[in-house]
Amino acid sequence: MEILVTGGAGFIGSNFVHYLIANTDAHVTVLDALTYAGNQKSLASIAPERLAFVHGNICDVDLVNTLVEASDAVVHFAAESHNDNSLANPRPFIDTNLVGTYTLLEAVRRSGVRYHHISTDEVYGDLELDDPQRFTETTPYNPSSPYSATKAGSDLLVRAWVRSFGVRATISNCSNNYGPYQHIEKFIPRQITNVICGLRPKLYGSGQNVRDWIHATDHSSAVWQILQNGRIGETYLIGADGEMSNRAVLSLILTLMGQPADAFDHVSDRPGHDMRYAIDSRHLRTQLGWAPSFSDFQSGLAATIEWYRDNEDWWRSAKQATEAFYAARGQ
Ligand code: NAD
Ligand code: DAU
Repeated sequence: MEILVTGGAGFIGSNFVHYLIANTDAHVTVLDALTYAGNQKSLASIAPERLAFVHGNICDVDLVNTLVEASDAVVHFAAESHNDNSLANPRPFIDTNLVGTYTLLEAVRRSGVRYHHISTDEVYGDLELDDPQRFTETTPYNPSSPYSATKAGSDLLVRAWVRSFGVRATISNCSNNYGPYQHIEKFIPRQITNVICGLRPKLYGSGQNVRDWIHATDHSSAVWQILQNGRIGETYLIGADGEMSNRAVLSLILTLMGQPADAFDHVSDRPGHDMRYAIDSRHLRTQLGWAPSFSDFQSGLAATIEWYRDNEDWWRSAKQATEAFYAARGQ
């Protein structure tokens, strides 16, 4: 099987490629523009006979048509993915998340190739801390940030291409991922690398906001299950029952790294900051028999901390620019 993975040099895309190499016989082609968030080193350990890397943009119609036609399936991870960046400059989010997805959809429409669309729980907006509900496949879309609005728009494009043009597509909306190869702009690796660098971690606002954490390997196994057995046109929510407040996650990072649990700074809150995400993944579990394998967040987090300690050459060159971006925003 030939699988085209867009955004395969990014965080979850590279974890998915490693998952495919370890668990299937597939040959993988990665299409990635290597933006600031892409890192080819994340794929360096994979044998060249299993992986082809194409440096290019998902908005490039001819390139996308050629690569899609040569594939049995497309799994589309490529995106501008960071909320704070979307608040600073939404334009690249429109181009990549909307026009890029449109370009891929037109290519799979022409060729009939199976398509899986990677999306986020943020399309559903947020929940109150005490709301007994969690997000399900029927929760109405209500995105808050330019990032989540473009992801919501891209999901709706997929649904329209399925219904109007018969494209063979599935969609998954996953909660917050953690694990190796995540860019240090994101919450968990930012705080881990701050401690390694002797900087104080930074918590937005009160830190009461809740995210629903899942290991990137569990996200990958769910996507592979959906790609093989998912029903065309169906949406699947992926989550591992990992709700935790930002403050609790940060205290755990500090404790695991031998620091006092309160050795962090409160900084300016994110404008429009979503309060809580929570996924009800029963549909995926009952329909496709998927279950997460990383059940202990603390040990998954400890392994992630070790990975950043052991792979400083992977992230060090991005640290200064990342912190300069945040400092200019009071974060
Ligand atoms: P990331 O920012 O780490 O990686 C994105 C990758 O896409 C990078 O390698 C980048 O170079 C590439 N890319 C960006 N624009 C491109 C373009 N125009 N053409 C080709 N390649 C391009 O992102 P991530 O956190 O790995 O997220 C991957 C996908 O998963 C996204 O669609 C995101 O919305 C979704 N998602 C992420 C999370 C999370 O917790 N990170 C949770 C749910 C869903
Ligand atoms: O829910 C899925 C989404 O999870 C994905 O769609 C996004 O691509 C991914 O980036 C992530 O979005 P978040 O905005 O939740 O992730 P982030 O790592 O940016 O922030 C997690 C929480 O931590 C959020 O409540 C903001 C807070 N935060 C973040 C940073 C960078 C801090 O308190 N301090 C920080 O320094």
